[in-house]
Parts: sequence; structure tokens; C-alpha cells
Amino acid sequence: MSKALKGKFVHGAHDLFFKTVHHRWLIYNASWEDPRIDRQLLELNENSKVVVLTSAGCNVLDYLIDGPAEINAIDVNPRQNALLNLKLALIKRGNHDDLFAMFGQGAHSDFRQVYADVKQYLAEEDRKFWDKKIVYFDLNSKKKSFYYYGSSGLLAWMITRYLSRNHQLKTELFSLFDADNLHDQKEIYERIEPLIWGRFISWLVRQPYALTLAGVPRPQIALINTQYPGGVGGYISDKLRHVFTEILANDNYFWHVYLTGSYSKKCCPNYLKLENFETIQKQVDRVKIHNNSVTGFLRQNPGKYSHFVLLDHQDWLAQHDPAGLEEEWQLILENSQPGSKVLMRSAAMEINFLPGFVKQALQFFPEQTNLLHTTDRVGTYGSLHFAEVL
Ligand SMILES: C[S@@+](CC[C@H](N)C(=O)[O-])C[C@H]1O[C@@H](n2cnc3c(N)ncnc32)[C@H](O)[C@@H]1O
Repeated sequence: MSKALKGKFVHGAHDLFFKTVHHRWLIYNASWEDPRIDRQLLELNENSKVVVLTSAGCNVLDYLIDGPAEINAIDVNPRQNALLNLKLALIKRGNHDDLFAMFGQGAHSDFRQVYADVKQYLAEEDRKFWDKKIVYFDLNSKKKSFYYYGSSGLLAWMITRYLSRNHQLKTELFSLFDADNLHDQKEIYERIEPLIWGRFISWLVRQPYALTLAGVPRPQIALINTQYPGGVGGYISDKLRHVFTEILANDNYFWHVYLTGSYSKKCCPNYLKLENFETIQKQVDRVKIHNNSVTGFLRQNPGKYSHFVLLDHQDWLAQHDPAGLEEEWQLILENSQPGSKVLMRSAAMEINFLPGFVKQALQFFPEQTNLLHTTDRVGTYGSLHFAEVL
């Protein structure tokens, strides 16, 4: 087989694996974008009409705290929406302790009873999903946490199992989140960095199939490999070093949950904090969930939306469906008004896929976003982009 043909075959097999995982699995069990940054850019208020991709729904609930008029949470993967619906159902039921056990600790000693109580709030198709998967929250299971299920959870489980074989590394990893200053954090990280990057992890993070489990599609891997000097391995190790040596980790709930399997009361998403529970509960009906693509949603629900939070999904569209990308932008612009805000992230350091008519219709704020990007607790994106419609 020629090299080119072999390359095509490998890419085709990887794309098929990606499609299979995305069509059958829950991918994201926690939102992987930092809403502390989004909040500063979006400036949501009671007039805001938001369009956002659901992912795991954590950030949808975070935005709700700011009291927007409506949030449209859209996802092509109905399992992601089922996850947000389960969170909404627990919030409607009104018991914060149970919400925190399920989504803070990732497991509940009486998960079947909690599920029986909230089922009434779920639509038929969500119930079908959770009837089979509610065991993810079983405290007595081997994994002991919902956050080690779904495809991103499976990858986190493999990595943390491997890392925790080294007792010193395990203890020091936990102490990273207890440090209350960057000096201590840097010292800890410098000690553990060589232990993290042993042969297995260095090999694993370069495997496209492993990255697929984390929801990273081939176009994003290609963007990193072509734009980043050390390729995917160098990219991840540099990003991790930045996160753990330049940004305080004691409220970095993104990494806390995957490294330990749970959040803590202090280190968790805002929607799990007791002080926000009542506010979220009162406004829970402002969230509308749509099993649809962004394009499909905007076609079926035309309107003047004030905010579009696109996450990083355009990296995929740009490579696989440039016509679909143009169509989505046409609809975004048609359904916006002057001053509407657009927020997106990318694996690339710079994005070069925006159609000309989009660049003309938007004003970007690179000085603001470049600075904010360095404070991102997730830390794995190449760039952050924020624009207003002219
Ligand atoms: C783009 S992914 C990325 C994950 C993200 N960075 C996060 O915060 O977790 C987020 C979600 O977008 C969904 N998605 C991807 N393309 C979409 C589209 N065109 N329309 C609607 N949902 C889409 C995926 O199913 C996934 O659940």
C-alpha cells in the first residue's frame, strides 16, 4: 500500500471511530471551557437571549446565575442534552445535598431513589438514556464517580489510574489544589512534571484515538500538529505547565474533577455552590434545550439573539464542512443585531477559517481576549475569540 493511501486509510478509520463515538456515547461529562472568562466578555443581563452549545451543560447553568431572559442550549448529541436535563431535574426537585452528591461528588449512596424522584421532570427520550446509565452515579461501583464515565471520563480514568500507581505523584497532585500561592504550586509542579510525562502518558496523548475519547477531532489534532512546534505532546505539556504554574489551582475545578474524580465544596462549578442554588432554581425555566445543530436551530427558531457562544465546534466544521460553516455564519448574522456578541475558542493559535463576509460583519477584540486567554483555568485551547456584530 502506498504511503498516501495508507495515510488516507488511517485517517478514514480514525474519522469513523470519531463518528461512532460521537453518535453513540456521552462525550463530555463536564464543560471544558472557563465561564469565569466568558462572564467578563458576555456581560449577560435580563435582556439577553443566548444561543450556546450544550456540551455538559455546566456553563449553561453558570450563565443562568446572571439572569438572562432565555438560554437556548443546543446540541446535536442528544446524550449531552439528556445530561443537562438531568441536572435541571435535580435543581427543580430542590434538594441541594442530592444535587451536590450526584454532580459534585459524582456519586450518591441512594442514586436509584434520587433518580426515581426526578424522573417525572424528564422527557421520554432522556428517561430511556438515564434508565440505562444512572448506574454511572453508583457510589459502590469500581469507578465511584460519574466523572469517570462517558468517553472523556474513560480517558481521565485510564490516565488517573496510571498516575496514581505512583504514591508520591498521587499525593503531590492532590496538594497542588491545596496550595494557596503560585510559588508553592510551581515548586510542586516542577517536582511532579517528570513523573507525569513518563513513557506511557507521552505516548497516550499522541494517539488520535485517545484524543477522540476526549472529544478532540482530527481537524483539531491537525491544527495543533501544523501550528505547534512540539506537536500534540509538546502542546499538552506546555499548556499543563502554564495552567499549574501561572494560574492558582485552588479553584481550578476543571482539573480537580478529572484528577480526583470529584469536585469539592470550595472547588466546583458555580451551579453547584449552595449560594447560587436558589437563583438558579427560580430561573430554571429560562433554559430551553434543543436536540439540533446550530444551523437547524436558527432555521427553526428565527429571532434576534444577543449572544452566541460557539465553543470550539467550528474547528471541526472548517475542515469537514466549509459550506456548512458558511451557512451557519449566514444564519448567525441574520439572527443577530448590531451589538450581538459572539464568543468562540479554537485549538489553533490563530483561526484562518472565517469567511470574508463574517470578518466584515464583526469587530473582534484581540487585545482583551489575548490577555484573558492566559488566565483560562482549562488552559488547553490555542486561542479565544470575542466579537460584536457591527
Ligand atoms: C464543540 S464540543 C466541544 C466541547 C467544549 N469545548 C466544552 O466546553 O466542553 C461541544 C458540543 O458541541 C456539540 N456540537 C458540535 N457541533 C455542533 C453543531 N454544529 N451544532 C450543535 N452542536 C454541536 C457536540 O455534540 C458537543 O456536545
